[in-house]
Amino acid sequence: MTPISVFADEEALAEALATHIIEKIRRTPALVLGLPTGRTPLALYRRLAARAQEADWSRVRTFNLDEFVGTGGGEPGSYRALMDAELFDHVGVPPEGRGFLDGRASDLDGECRRYEQEIAAAGGIDLLVLGIGGNGHIAFNEPGDTLIARTHRVALDPQTRAANAWLFAGDLSRVPQEALTMGMATILQARAIALVATGPGKAEAVQQALEGPVTTRLPASFLQLHPAWSVWLDDDARPRRASRR
Ligand code: GLP
Repeated sequence: MTPISVFADEEALAEALATHIIEKIRRTPALVLGLPTGRTPLALYRRLAARAQEADWSRVRTFNLDEFVGTGGGEPGSYRALMDAELFDHVGVPPEGRGFLDGRASDLDGECRRYEQEIAAAGGIDLLVLGIGGNGHIAFNEPGDTLIARTHRVALDPQTRAANAWLFAGDLSRVPQEALTMGMATILQARAIALVATGPGKAEAVQQALEGPVTTRLPASFLQLHPAWSVWLDDDARPRRASRR
């Protein structure tokens, strides 16, 4: 059974997940973390930043899940800029320990291969934190007829572009059409996965991810195949059958 934890609100969830991550770093100083962007993890990053002194982050390695094509050097709108502002400006992961896809690379396929090699060279990901899109996407693995196993280039769904417009001052026309993303196998090879969802807009996708068929139409449903995934929800994102903790 998947361990599901339901918290009263996103702050309580963020506090508990921050504690979980801090304890893991204390046990394993060279922890390899996979990290998401989007709005969902911002409360977690705020808590980790506030509690930066509780763990030594100097040997931690991180790999972000995805990045927009055309960005990657920390320009406004990029996931890298978001991560710097929300987490890396506050905790002591050295710059060389922060893994990002570079959406500005001239050879984007080569960039995807480089990322896979870098993750493998780090020994794989110990804990991958994931958000979920309202359409059930994870990282930028969008619903469709097929899914791609490894890190790859992807065209973004209109719904996903709209959901990311806040990063570009609400201007949808500035949201890139494409992105680079870890693939489903990259994600499923993480030794542990924590799926985080908050707000009523996620309840349906969470329910399908937990209880629906495993289908490329809802990429998060593939997490059912993972032996060590946990689900962290606030009360609004809770599938109606899951009881509150
Ligand atoms: C983006 C990211 C995903 C994220 C999802 C949900 O498209 N690529 O990694 O999980 O959207 O975003 P939010 O947390 O803002 O709802």
